[in-house]
Amino acid sequence: MDQSKIFLGGIFDVLPKLIEARRIIILACGTSWHAGLVSEYLFEEYARVPVEVEYASEFRYRKPLIYDNDVVIAISQSGETADTLAAIRMVREQSEATILGICNVAGSSISRETDAGVYTHAGIEIGVASTKAFTAQITVLTMMAFLLGHRKKHIADSDYVQMVKALTQVPEKMREILKHEGFIKDVANKYTNVTNALYLGRGVLYPVALEGALKLKEISYIHAEGYPAAEMKHGPIALIDENMPVFVLAIKDDSYEKIISNIQEVKARNGKVVAIVTEGEKTIRKIADDVIEIPSCHRALSPLLAVVPLQIISYQIAVMRGCNVDQPRNLAKSVTVE
Ligand code: AGP
Repeated sequence: MDQSKIFLGGIFDVLPKLIEARRIIILACGTSWHAGLVSEYLFEEYARVPVEVEYASEFRYRKPLIYDNDVVIAISQSGETADTLAAIRMVREQSEATILGICNVAGSSISRETDAGVYTHAGIEIGVASTKAFTAQITVLTMMAFLLGHRKKHIADSDYVQMVKALTQVPEKMREILKHEGFIKDVANKYTNVTNALYLGRGVLYPVALEGALKLKEISYIHAEGYPAAEMKHGPIALIDENMPVFVLAIKDDSYEKIISNIQEVKARNGKVVAIVTEGEKTIRKIADDVIEIPSCHRALSPLLAVVPLQIISYQIAVMRGCNVDQPRNLAKSVTVE
């Protein structure tokens, strides 16, 4: 297969609508909403189209303004989530907006009720906590942002070739991270008995921090919150003491210097810092309690790599606490009721 081009057959016919879109509205819940939030950064930066990421459960009861030349993207692993389904039906009733679906389950209600879409082909996801579907959702959304940016001539041909090539290198870089699974689990073991945790990220990694926190909550029942790192000073920093682990996504990108100062703020309050850094990083290594390296990659692709250690950490902590990681309490794989 030609790996130098992005081809998304499921949206080929509606690409003109996407290219002409006045705005992209993303509708989703839970982990799918986090994937949508990652794509907001990518669509706005690479395709120069305004994006609004909406919790479907709120959107459906709000009085949103929906225009006919909006494009709505419903993201759902199961394709059966009641709030997301109701939200797209509302859009259908109120406008001529084009409605796309990104689903993992073929033939699901959302995939049948949308105008076009992309299947994530992550395979059946058995565990309630969404992991591989999240990665696949971000991959599809990244491909859409790159494709749209190139078609709209915001991405030059030479950059596009490089970005697509970088995308094809992600699986190998993920394998690199998985080689260190034992080390990552050793780090996780140190935090098995905490009662709270904070996750911090900047830019496109902020939604990944939210996702890391959700994974820990879902399967280990530890209270955890994700925040944009700069928001910490506006309140959450009050929570920091020697009992609070803070997982910081601190890769080498244009916010690197700023994330170092956020880490210093946590250390100044005796917080425990677990930093996810770019391989070979030297500065954070001197101040953080634990450092987990990931391979360097194109900035837009960092969510795909940075989430892997967070998924392993939450899994390991849940296992060490004797939790049922596949069927956590109080949760259903697909929330088909309100
Ligand atoms: C994620 O691990 C949870 N299972 C949950 O938040 C899930 O993402 C949410 O219910 C949305 O499900 P969907 O992607 O099937 O619509």
